[in-house]
Amino acid sequence: MPVLDHRTDWDHYWRGLAASGGQPPQSGVSDPALARFWAQQIAATPSTSSATPVWADICCGDDSPLLQHAAPPSLKPDLVLIDYSGFALKKLKHNQLHAHCVQASAHQLPLPENSCDLIISQFGIEYAGKDTLPLVAMALKPSGKLVALMHKADGLIYQESQQSLAAILALLQGSCLRQARKAFEYGFKSLSGGNRALVKKANKTMAPAIEELKSILAKQGPHAAGGLLQQVARDMAYMFQRIPNYDPASIFNWFDGLKLELKSFAGRNRSMMTAALDEQDLTLLDDLLPGDFSYSFEPFLFTEHNEAAAWQVEIERTTDRA
Ligand SMILES: C[S@@+](CC[C@H](N)C(=O)[O-])C[C@H]1O[C@@H](n2cnc3c(N)ncnc32)[C@H](O)[C@@H]1O
Repeated sequence: MPVLDHRTDWDHYWRGLAASGGQPPQSGVSDPALARFWAQQIAATPSTSSATPVWADICCGDDSPLLQHAAPPSLKPDLVLIDYSGFALKKLKHNQLHAHCVQASAHQLPLPENSCDLIISQFGIEYAGKDTLPLVAMALKPSGKLVALMHKADGLIYQESQQSLAAILALLQGSCLRQARKAFEYGFKSLSGGNRALVKKANKTMAPAIEELKSILAKQGPHAAGGLLQQVARDMAYMFQRIPNYDPASIFNWFDGLKLELKSFAGRNRSMMTAALDEQDLTLLDDLLPGDFSYSFEPFLFTEHNEAAAWQVEIERTTDRA
């Protein structure tokens, strides 16, 4: 099975590009059910024979439930936080020097077999390919447990991603950005020549671009693509109205950055949709996991939703093979 690699898209996300004000756009995965779930899981993790248990978060991004929720005081685990984006880990490292941050692919983990008491992952391992979960589970010690929330094909998050992708592609494939850029070109030219005809041309070129963006927003909703499109509409209108305050290079850099950001957003959404698991993918774990592992999975619900958002997957290594 091919290993999915969208590292550049994730690096763009964690670095935060200019068009979204340096902040990653809201991914929509912030339901309070997530924090409740991890608080319970971590509080309920039993002590093991290890003097210092090892807990790992695979594909942690820029934060981790292992940092947000304290382990039971008797445990004092060593934390290992793994992601393949150095930009995500850089954000982590700033605040969390007591954890080991490791830049690595989930498909080639630097964790030795039989080394972890607890492994968690929130919307992460599946990005490395559907065959990755059993590989990661090999790092569990006997009695160790892996708990993952994973993207569900056709679940709520999946549907949201599908909508975002449609909105981004409409913007990338339409004429809005090209027109808007042209309008700025006319606008800047009119400033240097004091040419009123060019001012008119600039306004006439910008109007349909804004209309097109508005119609995408009306169709896909203001929150499509994590609010990125709405912000683009606001920023573009703001800059165009104040064009004399801007240097042309900064505006054209903004357009270039935006295009890159939209492409990387689309790449992440596509990779999420490829990574999402259906029930059959999880049932196959029966064949893929060795006999000393047991597993279970069930739909995970967000607050006030009856439709599943994700899968909750648990794998336990049952037998002490020593
Ligand atoms: C949807 S984000 C989840 C981040 C975090 N766990 C959370 O819930 O906020 C997916 C993360 O997986 C990382 N990632 C994607 N593919 C990966 C791979 N093959 N190996 C390691 N990390 C990967 C990305 O860099 C990103 O930080």
